[in-house]
Amino acid sequence: QLTPIDRAKYAAARRAVDLVEDGMKLGLGTGSTAAWMVRALAERVREDGLRLTCVATSARTGQLATELGLKVVTLDEAGWLDLTIDGADEFDTDLTLIKGGGGALLMEKIVATASDRMVVITDASKEVKTLGHFPLPVEVIRFGWQSSRMLTEELLSAMDVMGTQAALRMNGETPFVTDEGNYILDLALGRIGNPRQLSLALNQVPGVVENGLFIDICDAVVIGFGDGRVEMRD
Ligand code: A5P
Repeated sequence: QLTPIDRAKYAAARRAVDLVEDGMKLGLGTGSTAAWMVRALAERVREDGLRLTCVATSARTGQLATELGLKVVTLDEAGWLDLTIDGADEFDTDLTLIKGGGGALLMEKIVATASDRMVVITDASKEVKTLGHFPLPVEVIRFGWQSSRMLTEELLSAMDVMGTQAALRMNGETPFVTDEGNYILDLALGRIGNPRQLSLALNQVPGVVENGLFIDICDAVVIGFGDGRVEMRD
């Protein structure tokens, strides 16, 4: 029995999968909504006999896609992609996103920016007026991560944000480690007044690999609802 939130995610995923055409090279996102999309995609491949080449944004998405019979290759093998479909943690009216709640922001950003088009699938709860309620994930290399955190917090005090706390993401007793072997700092910002300025500044901190703000990357958002309706923003 699906919960209304799962039905909403599935509705958005189904709709996005309708955009897929035979022969496409696709980027597959990460997270629970993206997992619905991978299932819907595998269904379409079975029913319509589509020939697709897929690139996964995480090991777990790659595993799911392979298990369901999709052809998964590396981004370097695929080259340029036609379309990436992924979830998000927050989106605003400019279609600026916060991503990385699932810890896959680095590969997600690389794959999305190597695509002609990025479509985000979501339920209505992720829409915000101002980004920042969801903690902003920042991927840092493990070496010297504490100084990267210190410099990040220092930088935040000069930015148009409300909070300045950067917490190391944990996985039980030990730090969470990304697929690329890095740590994640979750920034409790409350409100991000100027996402572009913040994103540029964060990526200047030594040790920071990438941050979870997706600016001018997303082309459309498909919002699903519990009754199966979808709404598209672009
Ligand atoms: C993964 O790193 C994130 O960017 C996900 O896209 C995000 O956390 C959305 O996940 P859900 O679809 O599970 O909400």
